[in-house]
Amino acid sequence: MTPTSTAPAPLTAPPADMRELVRELRYRHDQARCGGGPRATEQQHARRKLTVYERLDLLLDPGSLVEIEPLRTHRATRFGMERRKPPGDGVVTGWGTIEGRTVFVYAHDFRIFGGSLGEAHAQKIHKVMDLAESTGAPLISLNDGAGARIQEGVTALAGYGGIFRRNVRMSGVVPQISVMLGPCAGGAAYSPALTDFVFMVRDVAQMFVTGPDVVRAVTGEQVTHDQLGGADVHATTGVAAFVHDEEAECLRAVRYLVSLLPANNQETPPVVATGDPPDRRTEALLDLVPADPNRSYDMRRVIEEIVDDGEFLEVHERWAGNVVCALARLDGSTVGIVANQPQMVAGALDIASAEKAARFVQTCDAFNIPLVTLVDVPGFLPGTGQEHGGIIRHGAKLLYAYCAATVPRVQVILRKAYGGAYIVMDSRSIGADLSFAWPTNEIAVMGAEAAANVIFRKEISAADDPEGVRAARIAEYRRELMHPYYAAEHGLVDDVIDPADTRAVLTRALAVLRTKRASFPYAKHGNPPL
Ligand code: HXC
Repeated sequence: MTPTSTAPAPLTAPPADMRELVRELRYRHDQARCGGGPRATEQQHARRKLTVYERLDLLLDPGSLVEIEPLRTHRATRFGMERRKPPGDGVVTGWGTIEGRTVFVYAHDFRIFGGSLGEAHAQKIHKVMDLAESTGAPLISLNDGAGARIQEGVTALAGYGGIFRRNVRMSGVVPQISVMLGPCAGGAAYSPALTDFVFMVRDVAQMFVTGPDVVRAVTGEQVTHDQLGGADVHATTGVAAFVHDEEAECLRAVRYLVSLLPANNQETPPVVATGDPPDRRTEALLDLVPADPNRSYDMRRVIEEIVDDGEFLEVHERWAGNVVCALARLDGSTVGIVANQPQMVAGALDIASAEKAARFVQTCDAFNIPLVTLVDVPGFLPGTGQEHGGIIRHGAKLLYAYCAATVPRVQVILRKAYGGAYIVMDSRSIGADLSFAWPTNEIAVMGAEAAANVIFRKEISAADDPEGVRAARIAEYRRELMHPYYAAEHGLVDDVIDPADTRAVLTRALAVLRTKRASFPYAKHGNPPL
């Protein structure tokens, strides 16, 4: 943007009237919105990036941005900084609305010192963070910055310290959303890592602790920005929860996510009227999920059938695809869905999927979002890779997250639910409020073949007809312990249901659990296996 007003003459005597002062005020505000002038704006566009105000226009309801400290400048006096004091100091801070609900924002302006963070820049961010916390509204950051401002030295680092401390203080108090819209180095990457959801735009955003130049100098490795920390890299490291092809689409998705979340941890998410009947029969599930437990299907199709209007927002779609985590609505209210995905490693749990689901469960619990767990899990993925990678510790994260969650929790067992993985996937025994199973459920310590091979090993090897004995023992184990009503007879599921009633059963269960109260004995905080 170029200034719309011209520079007023310097005031030499007391002004004749207020209008003269207002003209100067308008000029100063216009200057502040220029962000380094038209050339810097052209360069920003040439990098396929929008400017900071263009972004805020897309994120917020029209005309709702209220900016604070647009005239703030830095106090640095070295390396020529004293000659360049752009108003705003490279970050726009303030608040606005999304669908009429207040959100606080800060957005780096890459056109000014590469969006780098100095002392004043940091203090502006601290101020909106404090306001978001004290008023109980979400905080959204639009990140396009080079990290600590090199010319300001340790005061810039201290500025980051103040952001990190606030990120953690606000964690679980108000939703924090980070949108990555440029090359984000150092602290500009670390602060987002402390927030609830990270969005990245492909080919435009990168996140790294140290940039390619430093990497080359230290390790000799030649990498591009994107190879080091592009959106496609972080879609699979678990750093980015959502990846989009362009900024406008990404900012629309941020608005949608905000619509699914409460403003803070004292509220529940907004309820949205739906034309989708709560008791709609989900007949398609009878064909979608094969009764044969060895045949695969796409769990995302199951979720689509169950939720309002078939609409859900998958989190971390490209990381640990063997578990699907998604936000959706059931009868108008937000729910968090955790589901095994039989299409990938038969839906077995492993290190990455346990970590992904644990984080999701914890996020939902923090923001009063009930949990629905759809189970079809053959167990934990076996092997040295997993054991040596610490599956015990990482798997325990999911166990811990579920056991600690006090939101309404409903489990539905579709087919396999074996061993430790069955317990971890929000079984009744770890605190699910209600548990239902389809008639295809197979809840057991392990599959019948594996079970028979362990407990009848001696008998089978001593038999004249080992295969005949093995088959008989497998059939016996299946008949005695793996029939679909065994868990129901023992009170470990609350009922066996027709799959076509799944949506109706879930909406009724969540309606009754809406007033659930749960608390834990006092602890300073728990000690999860991080
Ligand atoms: C001040 C900086 C800067 C910085 C870039 N600029 N980084 N100014 N402090 N850290 C300036 C450049 O001089 C340039 O100014 C403008 O920003 C644009 O930078 P370019 O390099 O031309 O842009 P680009 O090629 O797109 O590369 C962007 C970049 C790269 C990847 C961010 O500039 C880079 O690697 N910068 C260094 C990043 C870094 O190491 N940051 C410190 C991290 S430590 P002009 O005037 O020429 O336009 C940190 C500590 C926090 O953050 C603690 C973490 C735990």
